[in-house]
Amino acid sequence: MFHKDMPYRRLGNAGIRLSAVSLGGWTTYGASVKAEDTVRGIIRAAFEAGINFFDISDIYEKGEAERAMGKVFAELPRHELVISTKCFWPMSDDVNDQGLSRKHIMESIDKSLRRIGTDYVDIYFCHRPDPNTPIEETARAMDDLIHRGKVLYWGTSEWSGEQIRQAQEICDRRNLYAPVVEQPQLNLAARKKYATDVQPALAEYGLGAVTWSPLASGLLSGKYDDGLPEGSRLWRSENLRKTYLTERNRERVRKFKALADELGTTRAELAIAWCLAQPGVTSVITGATRQEQLKQNLGALKVKITDEIRTRLEELFPLE
Ligand SMILES: NC(=O)c1ccc[n+]([C@@H]2O[C@H](COP(=O)([O-])OP(=O)(O)OC[C@H]3O[C@@H](n4cnc5c(N)ncnc54)[C@H](OP(=O)(O)O)[C@@H]3O)[C@@H](O)[C@H]2O)c1
Repeated sequence: MFHKDMPYRRLGNAGIRLSAVSLGGWTTYGASVKAEDTVRGIIRAAFEAGINFFDISDIYEKGEAERAMGKVFAELPRHELVISTKCFWPMSDDVNDQGLSRKHIMESIDKSLRRIGTDYVDIYFCHRPDPNTPIEETARAMDDLIHRGKVLYWGTSEWSGEQIRQAQEICDRRNLYAPVVEQPQLNLAARKKYATDVQPALAEYGLGAVTWSPLASGLLSGKYDDGLPEGSRLWRSENLRKTYLTERNRERVRKFKALADELGTTRAELAIAWCLAQPGVTSVITGATRQEQLKQNLGALKVKITDEIRTRLEELFPLE
């Protein structure tokens, strides 16, 4: 995959390169966006714009996102795609159908590969840390998957700096393939954990970061300024609405508009451009329920974050 307008960045010290902007399937494909043609249209438009990295999880609509996205991947050249999926969250009430035990990892990967319709995934993520499984057990299972060719690289998601360090040290001591990437949340309204805890650990061991929810579930685009557009994510999810639609956030997002207007850009572009400019970030995983959103979000690649803009943005959204 190569597109002249898309930067491709190395995943930390690993050799694989990912498009700086990527696309994920949480709450969308196979969920709020069920029509196959719409899913196909968005993924194909992403691919044509140079996106090579697509992120999924088994838990996204309990396998339906893997199925919906996999159908479209089957029409694209597999070797040009970087596909990731994840395991950890319970897929049923079976006591072993959850977590990061060897049993769950070994069984989950086969189910994910079947649903996606591929022989291997490029990156397999531990979707959360598992307090009930020793990191060594998880690391050995991941190492085995890499030896078996089912997984090319493995990574973690929402692990702490300390857990990331422990995994690296265990893999180093036991000569196992180590995680090469972490997938943390990162957006203007949620930046403290990445900046103060996660990023220093990634820098120490040369890991890449692929970051999620750059628009805080759409909030930072300004789409909730005047209420809840019918069908939008926060309209659909009461939980997310409670998390994001606070008075304080609404006020900050309104002030954010003034800055975006002054710079001649949109809030969505500016929010994603800020993520792209954060230290250690390989790829910003975006979400889109329609092609126009994807197109606007790709506009972030043209926005330059100067030191002055960064300071103003970070004053508006303080580290908290
Ligand atoms: N590892 C993890 O634990 C984890 C957690 C969450 C996400 N992720 C990954 O990160 C990906 C991206 O996260 P996200 O979907 O939360 O990203 P996001 O950019 O914060 O939110 C995307 C949603 O905002 C709305 N939107 C997108 N662009 C817009 C625009 N330009 N204008 C107005 N609305 C816009 C759309 O929802 P509506 O149209 O429905 O309103 C879209 O689905 C996920 O798909 C997943 O792959 C990982």
